[in-house]
Amino acid sequence: MFYTIIGTQWGDEGKGKIVDWLASKADVVVRFQGGNNAGHTIKINDKIFKLNLLPSGIIRGKKCIIGNGVVLDPWALENEINKLSSQNILINESNLMIAENICLILPMHKIIDELNENLRGSEIIGTTKKGIGPAYEDKVGRRSIRLCDLDDDALLRKKINSLIDFHILRFKDNNIEINSSELFQKLKSINQFVKKYVQPTWKILNELSNKNEIIVFEGAQGALLDLDFGTYPYVTSSNTTSGQIFSGSGFSRRDNHRIFGVTKAYTTRVGSGPFPTELNNSIGEYLVEKGNEFGTVTKRKRRCGWFDVNLVKQTAKISGVDDIVLTKLDVLDNLDEIKICVGYNIENKNYDYFPFSQYLQEKIVPIYKTFVGWNTSTFGLKNWSDLPKNAQTYIDTIEEMIETDISIISTGPERTQTIDKKKLL
Ligand code: GDP
Ligand code: IMO
Ligand code: MG
Repeated sequence: MFYTIIGTQWGDEGKGKIVDWLASKADVVVRFQGGNNAGHTIKINDKIFKLNLLPSGIIRGKKCIIGNGVVLDPWALENEINKLSSQNILINESNLMIAENICLILPMHKIIDELNENLRGSEIIGTTKKGIGPAYEDKVGRRSIRLCDLDDDALLRKKINSLIDFHILRFKDNNIEINSSELFQKLKSINQFVKKYVQPTWKILNELSNKNEIIVFEGAQGALLDLDFGTYPYVTSSNTTSGQIFSGSGFSRRDNHRIFGVTKAYTTRVGSGPFPTELNNSIGEYLVEKGNEFGTVTKRKRRCGWFDVNLVKQTAKISGVDDIVLTKLDVLDNLDEIKICVGYNIENKNYDYFPFSQYLQEKIVPIYKTFVGWNTSTFGLKNWSDLPKNAQTYIDTIEEMIETDISIISTGPERTQTIDKKKLL
């Protein structure tokens, strides 16, 4: 059996928790896009683990694969492995494999990320400044240095020089000097650390799938940050929707695959860009505080708003989501009134989807449906029948409107704080 976990909003929906919940059943967990811009949190009793690059299955000692669709900052990987080792998580070549054709994030990509943001002025994206966008630009431009290039000194020198030549004017304009021999030495040195993990992961993954191992594909970011289907240009630089799992890992089986879309019971977003149901008021502040809505990677306060049917219905369809996992229901516990956006009015026309035109997006007037809150604690509940009636009505209404089953409900950060309504696990 194969599972994909993707975010259906703007990221931080609780994917890490759900991957960990599913990982009890899994043999292998695979990342297939993004990089260390991701921040996935797993809480186990009093311990908190924060993962950026490593698949969340590493915490439970599962086999983990970082696929070719990811961009890899090898120094960030080293830091993450060291940090997790200090939390007694064992990581070695038998439980971590990295695609040999993965493209690298170099120190210069972080510099370019910063320069690009500065250039954007008021149109700033609010990136994580991890060099993700510039690394993907070099990948698409066919200039990247890949892991498999690090063993070939002559090729590596040549590739470093061409890359510096390509960016030289930009660096000169900004008085930045990149020393090619220093970069060469730095890469050779990190290669000593990373080399043991390098594998033809596409091959291993297909072999494991043929042995009926249970494989979980762990998405990063969310569908509204997808380069094609998100709120472009306020997106990340990879495809975050489920179609990416194949090209981002080389896995090719199309049978027995269940796709979970992780969705918050409200909406959040970090960074700039449209957000039709954003709450710039005391309710928004309440969601920030109660939901502890601060970025895992950048510590920025997340923007908060009501649940938006149009957005999730659309992203669930684009990713072929079989089941929605509705997270952070407990955060809504103390609200007297809860709203969901059931459609948009734009220049006197109703929309049951999110249009891609930035002109139209700016003119969205959300149409709301109001619910009476449940005003009791749902924190940690494990059974559907224990949920207050008003919470069940809230979930049932959303389920009907997004035209996708809500099969799992998360009521707290721990693996056990989960309602498995359809008994899928
Ligand atoms: P991810 O990027 O999608 O993995 O999500 P993050 O880890 O960035 O953010 C989700 C945060 O919510 C984490 O701190 C989780 O521990 C926490 N969380 C996940 N599910 C729940 C839930 O159902 N209730 C509450 N209160 N917190 C949750
Ligand atoms: P997880 O996996 C939330 C956002 C950034 C910025 C935009 C582009 O934890 O859900 P980038 O550095 O990728 O070029 O930034 O994307 N962003 C995320 N927001 N969760 C994430 O990951 C994100 N990864 C990137 O805030 O708006
Ligand atoms: Mg996150």
